[in-house]
Amino acid sequence: MVMVMGMADQAPVITFELVTLFPELFDNVLGTSLLGRAVAAGIIGVERTNQRDFATDRHRSVDDTPCGGGPGMILSVPPLAAALDDIATRRGPAHKVLLSPRGKLLDQTHVRRLAAMPRIVLVCGRYEGFDERVSGLCDEELSIGDYVLAGGELAAAVVIETVARLIPGVLGSGLSTADESFSHGRLEYPQFTRPVDFRGHVVPSILLSGDHAAIDCWRRRQAFHRTMVSRPDLMARYPPTDEERVWMRDDAELASPDVADAADADGTPGGRRS
Ligand code: ADE
Repeated sequence: MVMVMGMADQAPVITFELVTLFPELFDNVLGTSLLGRAVAAGIIGVERTNQRDFATDRHRSVDDTPCGGGPGMILSVPPLAAALDDIATRRGPAHKVLLSPRGKLLDQTHVRRLAAMPRIVLVCGRYEGFDERVSGLCDEELSIGDYVLAGGELAAAVVIETVARLIPGVLGSGLSTADESFSHGRLEYPQFTRPVDFRGHVVPSILLSGDHAAIDCWRRRQAFHRTMVSRPDLMARYPPTDEERVWMRDDAELASPDVADAADADGTPGGRRS
């Protein structure tokens, strides 16, 4: 069974080909909000293929017991290979990604790379694993985190959403992904909206000052601090800039006991009014 979504006059900017035993699992995620609108507008194309439709035995089997013994069932290679061949014959070559917990960890660098491709096949694993030869049919293997899902479908949905929002027109006019978390190896700075005072937690006064240069600097510094605290691994991968080194020196000085009391409350996002 092959389903086509997102009919439009123009070819989609990017098309995701889902290979899954549970195509219906994507109905909500592809029909709602940002993705729903992008698919309806034809910016994002989605096709779904169920490898069970390519099984050749009378039970339409897609899995089998592992050679050499062991618990559970594993996805077998022939129906998947036939499904991938069918996709290539019908719609041409595409970059093939296998979702699996043993893949490379998906990050924003992978996402940006994938967003530059016109067609991506997302192969969703299920059961206790897959025949090793399945991975040989794919160009790369990606994981969305160090935990095990019951299948690759939710991981494929994560790939689709993260990639799709980088496609021009998907986020809507005026919205940019340039400043957000991970775009420069730093987490996003804290944001606030009205009310200025919520149960004693006040918006940092600098954000109300109208001084845009000072606000930009404050945001960069907050992003840097947040990254140091929450994601030291990002700090190691994206070494501090000259500006950040100066802040580190300032912080080290502030941390010394005789000057710690002089710390400005404005440096604390959402600081409590006394
Ligand atoms: N399938 C099962 N667990 C997964 C994970 N963490 N990432 C991608 N695919 C998966």
